[in-house]
Amino acid sequence: MDRIIVTGGKELSGQIPIAGAKNACLALMPATLLSDEPLTLTNAPRLSDIKTMSALLSSLGAEVSSLQDGKVLALSSHDIHNHTADYEIVRKMRASNLVLGPMLARLGHAIVSLPGGCAIGARPMDIHIDALEMLGAVIELKDGYLHAKAPNGLKGATIPLRFASVGATENVVMAATLAKGTTVLQNAAREPEIVDLVSCLRKMGAQIEGEGTSTITIQGVDRLHGATHPVVTDRIELGTYMLAPAIAGGEVELLGGRRALVGAFADKLEATGIEITETEAGLKVRRANGRVQAVDVKTEVFPGFPTDLQAQMMALLCTANGTSVLEETIFENRFMHAPELMRMGADIEVHGGHATVKGVDRLKGAPVMATDLRASVSLILAGLAAEGTTIVSRVYHLDRGYERVEAKLSACGAQITREKEPQ
Ligand code: UD1
Repeated sequence: MDRIIVTGGKELSGQIPIAGAKNACLALMPATLLSDEPLTLTNAPRLSDIKTMSALLSSLGAEVSSLQDGKVLALSSHDIHNHTADYEIVRKMRASNLVLGPMLARLGHAIVSLPGGCAIGARPMDIHIDALEMLGAVIELKDGYLHAKAPNGLKGATIPLRFASVGATENVVMAATLAKGTTVLQNAAREPEIVDLVSCLRKMGAQIEGEGTSTITIQGVDRLHGATHPVVTDRIELGTYMLAPAIAGGEVELLGGRRALVGAFADKLEATGIEITETEAGLKVRRANGRVQAVDVKTEVFPGFPTDLQAQMMALLCTANGTSVLEETIFENRFMHAPELMRMGADIEVHGGHATVKGVDRLKGAPVMATDLRASVSLILAGLAAEGTTIVSRVYHLDRGYERVEAKLSACGAQITREKEPQ
């Protein structure tokens, strides 16, 4: 296993290219199951989660080729011979559940293990199950697996989601593309990854309207065909690297970044005193002299402040002038980075879904442990400005969601290396 060593105190200057979105790509890849013609995804990120999804799709009988050093994924599902998404693969990543909707729609049945993923809460599947049942699926839980059947095919329906779940929206939209009649999905998730999925499905021949709003209407068609689609920019990677110069000082241009992808986050960052300007190539972020100001942050569904940037924002607020309150409303157990930041000298109190962060002058480097994907990168960010050396262990979480983090940051002057964990 690897660990990352960061020595703080270097101001950053340069450019960071932002990759295609992990979460968009993980929804786009299972869309291959909807058609027997090839699907080609360009601008794919090179991450271990993408390899996990490739392994899952291959285990079902899909052909997955990684081209151009992993930036292009060529997928084909003309021969799906296995209908079971096995626990051994699914437990590594919750997004594996996104094969359920497409398999049900095209093949009429699917057996999918209940997922694992990050340890940030219970993350059940009830919203997915209820919605697919409204489309006519019959779903039973046996031995940790969901056994789903649509003996008479799926039929369009009006489906109100009790919560705007990203994954449930993706599963239902994919399933409904091949259902008979019209599906109206109410309280749908509005994240840019949903918009990207719909844009790809439309290229494949699906008839969908309303993506990016809370009502999505899908008119079922008999079959979908092949397509080529570029994966949208990763707004979470973008926000993470916007925080790097905010924490370490200096000025960095995020290539491919767009403000519309990170609106609520960018507003908060500006409220702390950070300058953000749109450039032809992306977004430029600059920290002028002095400490940033404290701000309160509440995570919400899009277009609100993303839960996936909460840990990284906390790393910034640890050294802000004043006291900030962070409220987590999406996941019930997502402050596991707080005790690690406290090992670096942060002053944080967690009460249920609230964390109160009293800004200190400076963090100090320490050995810390990454407990989930976004937590691990928040510790690296904190290390950029800390006095001395921070050693972040167990970075396999990091490789699920960030490609070449040490290369991207060291190209801007950060002192950061990766090495093998001593035995
Ligand atoms: C996706 C993202 C993840 C992000 C999350 C919220 C991917 C691959 N992952 O995850 O990075 O943090 O959106 O923006 O896109 N819930 C239920 N029942 C369900 C489904 C969800 O109670 O059937 C709850 C979950 O426990 C959680 C909340 O709803 O508390 C959000 O989940 P959801 O929006 O579904 O997130 P994911 O699609 O899993």
